[in-house]
Amino acid sequence: MSQHFQHDVLVIGSGAAGLTLALTLPSHLKIAVLSKGELSQGSTFWAQGGVAAVLDDTDTVESHVEDTLVAGAGLCREDAVKFTVEHSREAIQWLIEQGVPFTRDHEPGREDGSFEFHLTREGGHSHRRIIHAADATGAAIFNALLEQARQRPNIELLSQRVAVDLITEQKLGMDGQRCLGAYVLDRSTGEVDTFSARFTVLASGGASKVYLYTSNPDGNSGDGIAMAWRAGCRVGNLEFNQFHPTCLYHPQAKSFLITEALRGEGALLRLPNGERFMPRFHTLGELAPRDVVARAIDHEMKRLGIDYVYLDISHKPAEFIREHFPTVYERCLDFGIDITCEPIPVVPAAHYTCGGVLVDSQGRTDVPNLYAIGETTFTGLHGANRMASNSLLECFVYARSAAADILAELPKAQTLVALPCWDASQVTDSDEDVIIAHNWDELRRFMWDYVGIVRTNKRLARAQHRVRLLLDEIDEFYSNYKVSRDLIELRNLAQVAELIILSAMQRHESRGLHYTLDYPDLLPEARDTILAPSTYCG
Ligand code: FAD
Ligand code: SIN
Repeated sequence: MSQHFQHDVLVIGSGAAGLTLALTLPSHLKIAVLSKGELSQGSTFWAQGGVAAVLDDTDTVESHVEDTLVAGAGLCREDAVKFTVEHSREAIQWLIEQGVPFTRDHEPGREDGSFEFHLTREGGHSHRRIIHAADATGAAIFNALLEQARQRPNIELLSQRVAVDLITEQKLGMDGQRCLGAYVLDRSTGEVDTFSARFTVLASGGASKVYLYTSNPDGNSGDGIAMAWRAGCRVGNLEFNQFHPTCLYHPQAKSFLITEALRGEGALLRLPNGERFMPRFHTLGELAPRDVVARAIDHEMKRLGIDYVYLDISHKPAEFIREHFPTVYERCLDFGIDITCEPIPVVPAAHYTCGGVLVDSQGRTDVPNLYAIGETTFTGLHGANRMASNSLLECFVYARSAAADILAELPKAQTLVALPCWDASQVTDSDEDVIIAHNWDELRRFMWDYVGIVRTNKRLARAQHRVRLLLDEIDEFYSNYKVSRDLIELRNLAQVAELIILSAMQRHESRGLHYTLDYPDLLPEARDTILAPSTYCG
């Protein structure tokens, strides 16, 4: 039997963004936080490098803003960048208060009242401004926030719950546009339950699983973006998919990232003959912005017909490497690579979704009572290329501002209305799950081949043709069979893939992460690519 639940705030996602929002709201509110798998399911748990923030006395807000604008290749919204950076220090202070064990600074000269935590460097940053917990920052943050949430009786943490779709007044044929909650698959019962809420928050992460090779954990299938789109929200700049330059290349290593902080601490990229190649591509060498480094690696791999390049930190003292990068050290050792004395084989992989659901500085979407925060969103912070470690910062800053806005809106929010149950009367159990598995593979492969690091008009047209065929097949499947996590994810991935392709087709230039051989130059005016469901003709 399916069930009905009522909450003040329904948060879809238990990563950095979702947990921060839940913890920032006052304890008299009844809050549900959903995760489609374990609570640690999302990217947050796997984040390595750290969080960018202006913390050191020698650093300034202006400098962090300027670096972000430069990396964003003319497309950042300056107000969003300033808003985020200006709130960075208080966000970190809040994390410290929640008990996040950031790495402390042992260096002499830092016991003089200047900042007490160790700050590392990453690509595009002109200062050391990345606060971190060794090379497992995401796990340290996630564990601290989860521990706090578990102590709050008003927060229900619900794992293995997959939101299928948002419920809106419009979808129910009522007057108005408000979001009223969501239908949610309970994986333990197989039933789709009804969650009604005065406010619903999408904190459901990115969509990098749309690509065959990715640094992301399973589950980053763009559900929040697809659900928001189907509910009537605009999306922006989805053509900007960030490829992290250095993921471990090893047949048994599924999605393991080699943090950019290695390059921040002096690691060098080399060809198989030992030659450094980054100085040929950018004056900042290995610390050039990510799009430049990923494209340079892709270029060298194609030029030489090789499967990977090397990242080498073996010239640093072994003790330094083990102390700063214990996770990378241990994981590589599992695969027989001792990074203290040999280089690491690496390749680029899809890493971060820069675009997403359009929101304002309070995380408000186009649909009343629906908020979105974290990687699911397009705030304007990242422009055409996200600078390293700005994404966790965005999660904290916008989760906190969205929580403040929800609190301010609460007195105006209408009471909860009775919602209809999910209608499963017309569907049966699927006897052809192979179709789902096949379509998953096909989608992710053509997105990698045709909509990857280097694009062309022809490749995009091919991808568009194929995604439309898949969408038709998936729609038919969805209408006839009971929903499962795989089917929900495939439906969302295909939807987001189509939006990525449409966005890429609209950009007739090469800017930041979007590089096309047909339009290799930059247009004089930087413009966002905004898609609206009302004008969509897919
Ligand atoms: P996530 O942490 O991805 O969480 C998404 C949540 O939504 C999960 O709980 C998931 O279960 C839930 N969810 C999704 N769909 C549904 C659904 N349909 N129903 C119910 N629940 C759903 N950024 C940095 O700033 N610094 C770093 O050092 C850094 N390192 C990274 C390393 C790796 C390997 C990766 C993959 C990313 C890294 N990033 C880093 C990026 C950063 O980690 C993410 O952008 C950020 O953690 C996203 O947080 P989030 O809360 O938006 O989503
Ligand atoms: C990394 O540690 O290299 C990832 C940092 C990020 O994605 O911001």
